[in-house]
Amino acid sequence: MAKKAKRTIVTVSQVRLDKYKGDMLAVGLFEGAKRLPAELVQLDKTADGALKNVLKLGDFTGKANETAVLYTSGKVGCKRIMLVGLGQKDKFKLDGLRQSAGTAARTAEKLAVARLGLAVHGTGGVKLSAEQAGQAVTEGAIVGRYDYQEYLSEAKDNSQKDTTMRVTIVEPKASAVTGLNRGRRVGVVLGEGQNYARTIANKPGNEINPPSLAREAQKLAREVGLKCKIFDERKLSDMGMNGILAVGSGSASKPRLIMLEHKGRRTGNQKTGPDVVVVGKAMTFDSGGISIKPSANMEEMKFDKTGGCAVLGIMKAVAAMKLPLHVVGLIPSAENLPSHTSYRPGDIVRTYSGKTVEVQNTDAEGRMILCDALAYAAKMKPKAIVDMATLTGACVVALGVHYAGLFGNNAALKSKLENAAQVSGDLVWAMPSDEGYFAEMKSKIADLKNISNRKGGACTAAAFLGDFVGDVPWAHIDIAAVADTDAEKPYRGVGATGFAVRLVMEYLRSK
Ligand code: BES
Ligand code: ZN
Ligand code: ZN
Repeated sequence: MAKKAKRTIVTVSQVRLDKYKGDMLAVGLFEGAKRLPAELVQLDKTADGALKNVLKLGDFTGKANETAVLYTSGKVGCKRIMLVGLGQKDKFKLDGLRQSAGTAARTAEKLAVARLGLAVHGTGGVKLSAEQAGQAVTEGAIVGRYDYQEYLSEAKDNSQKDTTMRVTIVEPKASAVTGLNRGRRVGVVLGEGQNYARTIANKPGNEINPPSLAREAQKLAREVGLKCKIFDERKLSDMGMNGILAVGSGSASKPRLIMLEHKGRRTGNQKTGPDVVVVGKAMTFDSGGISIKPSANMEEMKFDKTGGCAVLGIMKAVAAMKLPLHVVGLIPSAENLPSHTSYRPGDIVRTYSGKTVEVQNTDAEGRMILCDALAYAAKMKPKAIVDMATLTGACVVALGVHYAGLFGNNAALKSKLENAAQVSGDLVWAMPSDEGYFAEMKSKIADLKNISNRKGGACTAAAFLGDFVGDVPWAHIDIAAVADTDAEKPYRGVGATGFAVRLVMEYLRSK
């Protein structure tokens, strides 16, 4: 029987650290701290100096996400205290706090902790607002605890059991409680939006194909109150969305274009275009098509739908927060397979924009579906378009796994996204995609071709996309390297990461 997902419930409680009654209390310590921060002195006293002892012995150094569990003798309200390393104090960022909460929740789970107190914020005198701290800690716990286990018949250990964890943000000062709670409410929505995106993205290609992804979007829309429109293959053909159709032509699961819409209060009657259209690539599987990929690691190409899944997570969060904006989500979806009906190298496709594209490689399919969706988005005359796509291996080579590539035609929009990246922890690095790159995408026999040479592949791909948005401010985020991971971290499990949900939500909230 398929297992239910775990539940993480986060609350804020005004209580002294040594009085919190739970199964474990997590507190943060910076690397190399010689003395305990003021916030922990009382706890340490009640615990008969247990914290000081650990520091003295040198068993715990405070490196980022290092943990140590101490067992208390009964005077402290809580049976266990967990020390969580916050790393070097002068390098500490908001994401460090998010990670420390994730580490605490993931580690607690292995010990079957059902009630976890988090006092990692405010330890050590780092200046953060209570609201920022409450949000980051909440996100960290919810996202950190997540594991994809739908297809596991039985739990292999505690951390896989279908349990509910009650996480309490423990705060002795009354003055901080309101702010922490405000942040907590946002953190719950963003954390759950991100985990939802991860769950859809983690599902395999034999479950999620373009029609079943469209049904999932409809279900989401019903649940959270979004408008949802699905363009099936007949409609796509009527509209001339031949880029999406070409890519999907080799699969029995026909392509879809999924549209979700949120019209926030204050935007209800406006006649102008949307504030933002968010677009996400959803190749439910990318085999490369006739230009087939090597078989090693090809299974990872089920993650080629993560851009579209991020759009689902974003729209879920937008609806839950009732953002006072008009936001449209667009998800072009297809399955790229080789067959006797597939599109082929050499084909010339007339895309929705009217521009023709010579296909030189069927594995450069993301841009073929995105160009139709972007042209459609631009027609709505929005104030901005932001797209997310696992677009190129070249971006993985260029930036490695710590940053997504940020491209676009508008400096102000890019700068807003860079700021949102710093707050959300979904990091982006600005890359070029101007005329020089675009010139490389011109074909001798059509308006454009879908590949250039190997040089600067992420930049030429972005330049191709940029030709379909006209003069609408547009940003493109190449998430190929960051959308999924097989490297487990103390604060995060493997599989789809849900990258870009928090990033784009931070951008939308700060508009
Ligand atoms: N989905 C891939 C990009 C990708 C590669 C995502 C590795 C995640 C990890 C995309 O459709 C693709 O195959 N791109 C080609 C483009 C090339 C043919 C110009 C690539 O990057 O090799
Ligand atoms: Zn491909
Ligand atoms: Zn792809």
